[in-house]
Amino acid sequence: MSYEKFIEKLIKKYGEDRSSLIEMAFDIQEAYGYIPKELLRILCEKMKIPYAEAYSSISFFKDFRFSEPEKIVIGVCYGTSCYFNGGKQLYEEINKIDQEDIEVHTVYCYKCCAQYPVATINDEVILNASVEKICSVILQQRKPQC
Ligand code: FES
Repeated sequence: MSYEKFIEKLIKKYGEDRSSLIEMAFDIQEAYGYIPKELLRILCEKMKIPYAEAYSSISFFKDFRFSEPEKIVIGVCYGTSCYFNGGKQLYEEINKIDQEDIEVHTVYCYKCCAQYPVATINDEVILNASVEKICSVILQQRKPQC
């Protein structure tokens, strides 16, 4: 959806009242994973709010990020021990997660076979991996840094 169409929906939902800016920012971040500066600039023009004022109000809250989240690469071990002890099922379940910035692939043996299934998220090794553990690590990695 284009920024303009998204902004139209926001204004329809909240009106042009500047006191709704933070609620709008939550919706923007939920939709895009961050606050695109170009989208914010267009929104400010439509709402007749100075960009600097909107940016400073939103950036006051540490929950908001202004840059695109980095791609998350998940590797699921398909070595014999992991494959037959939850690795195959884990791989299939993770592939159901519908996120554009997540890439999932299989790998073969991290040499910690007794702690199956094993997965990696970027460079972090997850032992006895589960979808819940993986989602928890992803959420930690996505948290904006203070
Ligand atoms: S088979 Fe998965 S770590 Fe060895």
